This record gives sequence, C-alpha cells and structure tokens, in this order.
Amino acid sequence: MRTRIVHEGADELSYEIRGIVTFAEELQKLGVDIIWENIGDPIVKGEQVPAWIKDIIAKEVQDNDSFGYSPTKGVKEARECIAEERKRESGVDLSPDDILFFNGLGDAISIVYTYLHRGARIIGPSPAYPTHSSAEAAHAGSPHITYTLDPHRNWLPDVEDIKNKVAYNPAVAGILIINPDNPTGMVYPRRVLEEIVLLARRHNLFLIADETYARLAYNGEFTPLAELVGDDVPAIVMRGLSKEVPWPGARAGWIEVYNAEVDESFARYVKTLNDAKMLEVCSTTLPQRVLPKLFSDERYETHVRARVEQYAKRANRAYAALGSIPGVIAPRAESSFYYSIVFDDMPEKGTLPIENVAVRERTEQAVKGVPVDKRFVYYLLASTGICVVPLSGFNTDILGFRMTLLEPDEETFDTTVKNIADAIVGYQKSVCI
Ligand SMILES: Cc1ncc(COP(=O)(O)O)c(C=O)c1O
Repeated sequence: MRTRIVHEGADELSYEIRGIVTFAEELQKLGVDIIWENIGDPIVKGEQVPAWIKDIIAKEVQDNDSFGYSPTKGVKEARECIAEERKRESGVDLSPDDILFFNGLGDAISIVYTYLHRGARIIGPSPAYPTHSSAEAAHAGSPHITYTLDPHRNWLPDVEDIKNKVAYNPAVAGILIINPDNPTGMVYPRRVLEEIVLLARRHNLFLIADETYARLAYNGEFTPLAELVGDDVPAIVMRGLSKEVPWPGARAGWIEVYNAEVDESFARYVKTLNDAKMLEVCSTTLPQRVLPKLFSDERYETHVRARVEQYAKRANRAYAALGSIPGVIAPRAESSFYYSIVFDDMPEKGTLPIENVAVRERTEQAVKGVPVDKRFVYYLLASTGICVVPLSGFNTDILGFRMTLLEPDEETFDTTVKNIADAIVGYQKSVCI
C-alpha cells in the first residue's frame, strides 16, 4: 500500500471466546467430540424460548411496519417502556430521549469507544469482557488501562487500585463497571459502587456501566447504577435483550444516558453517539417492537426468575465440585451463567493424557510458548473435549479459565464439572510424578 492502512489499534483486537473455536474445530476434525463451554449463548446450549414469547414475535412479524426502518434513537414505545421500567426499578426519571438503541451491545460498545477523543481513556476491570477492553484499547492505540478484580476477595474491585490509577493518570476520563460481571459472575456490592461514584464525582469523570446481566443476579442484591449517580455524575448504562430473554440473535441493546447536561463536553460526546447512529440510520426494528409487549407481560418476570434459579443451582453444584480444590481459587458465581476458576498454584508444564496420537501431537505443538492457563485449556480440550476460555483471553494477568453454567441437562452438567475437576487435579499431579 502506498500509505499506511493498518489502524494503530489493530493489535489490540482479540476475542478468545471465539478464538478458541479455531483450535477446537481442528481437534474436532481429528475426532474429538467437543463440549462447547466457551460461549455465553443460552440458545446454542439448548435453552428453549417459551412459546408465548415466540407468539408475540410471530404476531409482530405479521405487521408490515416491522419491516421498516425505525427512528434513529429507537422505537418510541420501546424507549418509553424502558423509562417506565427504570422508574419502577430505581425510582429515577429517565427521559425516553436519553435512550439510544444499538444492534446489540457489541455495536454500542464499539461506537462508545470509537467516538471518544483519542487521548481520553476509560479504565476498566481486569479480567474484562474482551469487547470492552479491546475496543477501548483499539480506540487509544495502546493497551487498556485496568483495575483489579480480586479473586481472593470474592472478585471485589480493588477500589484503591482505581483511586491510584485515576489520580496518577490524567488521561483517564471515565470508569467502566461491568455489573453483574462477565467473566467472574460477581455482583458489585452497593458500597463499592458508591465509592466508585464518589471517585467519579471528585475527579470529574463519567461512568459506563454495562448492566446486560442486571436481571440475572441470583439473590436480587444487584444495585443499578442509575440509583447512585444523583443529578450530577454523568453516566452511560448499557442493557440489552441478548441474555435476559434470551435473544442474542436479535442484536438489540441500548444505552441510557444520565446527567448528560451537567457537563458540556459529556453532552457533546453523547450528541456524537447519536449522530454516529444517525449515519447508520437505525438499529433492528423487530426486537424493539417486541420489547414493550414482552416487558409488560406478567409472565416475563416469572420466566426470567425461573431461568435465574436454574443458573443459581448450577453455580452451587459447580462451586461444590471446583471451589475447594487445592491450588485454585473459584469464588461461587452470584449471577448470570459464568464461572471463573483461577490458578493459584498451577504447574507451568503440566499435561493431561491424550489417547489419539494426532490430537496429542497437534496439542503439544499448539501449547509451545503459551501462558499456563491456555496450556491447561488446550490440554483439557484435547483430553476431554471440554472447550472453556483461558482467563488470559479476558485482558488480564490473572490465569485460569471461564466455563459457563448453561448446560441444561443436569447429568451432562455434573459430568462436565466433574471432568474439569479431575483434569485440574490430574494436571497438577502430572508434574509432581
Ligand atoms: C458484559 C457483556 N456486555 C455486552 C455483551 C454483548 O452483548 P450483545 O449480544 O448485546 O452484543 C456481552 C456478551 O456476552 C457481555 O457479556
């Protein structure tokens, strides 16, 4: 090329949740039966959307208007419904005009970071859902700035770490909170959120809260950020339909903007997000038309609660099997459908038995020079067919892996968890012998 065409942030884009699939598919071709535990898609794992939800969608499809563009910000009835829900949930007044729909939160995340001034940084959690950390790093053309979620303290955010990094890094313009969190399954306690809000207030920062799992907290102790920002801390809250309905294929998510007017440059930034969406015209219409019908249906709450109960049960069973293995730290998940296991004392060069020679040779070649968690994940895949994601794929130095709590068949779930537990112990022993 006669001029540079590669983006400064090109090396920052990585998504191990799908990246691991390439290796898994290679092993599949060599005869390994894969148990997909990498991706947070309940539908792929066999969860059935109830017939009454499908009926609502089918009825909406019959309306010709569902095939048209929608307003740039989103279908008015959907935004009004979300604003009413926020009033009920948190007692806050959110104007429907402060809601902007996207084609899933993946789209929202991309636009939110792309249109931020190049020098402005958003500090985010480590480990982190990689779409945030990659998009933020790519926007700045340098690695994402992170604060630690501490597995020794039930994955609590290290607020001192945030304080220090904010104080010593004037480029930090905002703090990202993923609550409930992916990949840890943790729910931020209210007092921690209050401390973060205070920090934002003190340093003139804005907050981004990804609350895509808001309704999937097991014990109902989730605190929406909207309740804490008062009338002075600018914030963007992200929610969507993907995980809650679940309907990830709808590609429907939205941002809610709080206190846009309290800061001139935040208001201008938010206008940029709206303008950017206008260039795209609008987001997918059908799911937005379905949303008010779904949220106002009395069966919806029962449906979501029933799903949450299933995940909570599986979280308990996974914790019982994996939570007390020596050498790993695995705090029980408190929400959603992820469970992260951290290596505290894991041998660097462990192995697992692999009968198929071609699979063994391919694995030995693939693990050369990779971090210890990726090495374990590759051996687990080759030895048992279980495909989990190494934690190092979540923009962190914390080593371990994430599995899901999505397997609907109890027996298969228990077997998978047991096989993972056996593999951890086997991998540890393989080096001691
Ligand atoms: C924390 C978090 N935010 C956003 C997303 C993206 O969701 P969507 O399907 O709305 O793009 C995910 C998907 O796994 C997620 O875990």
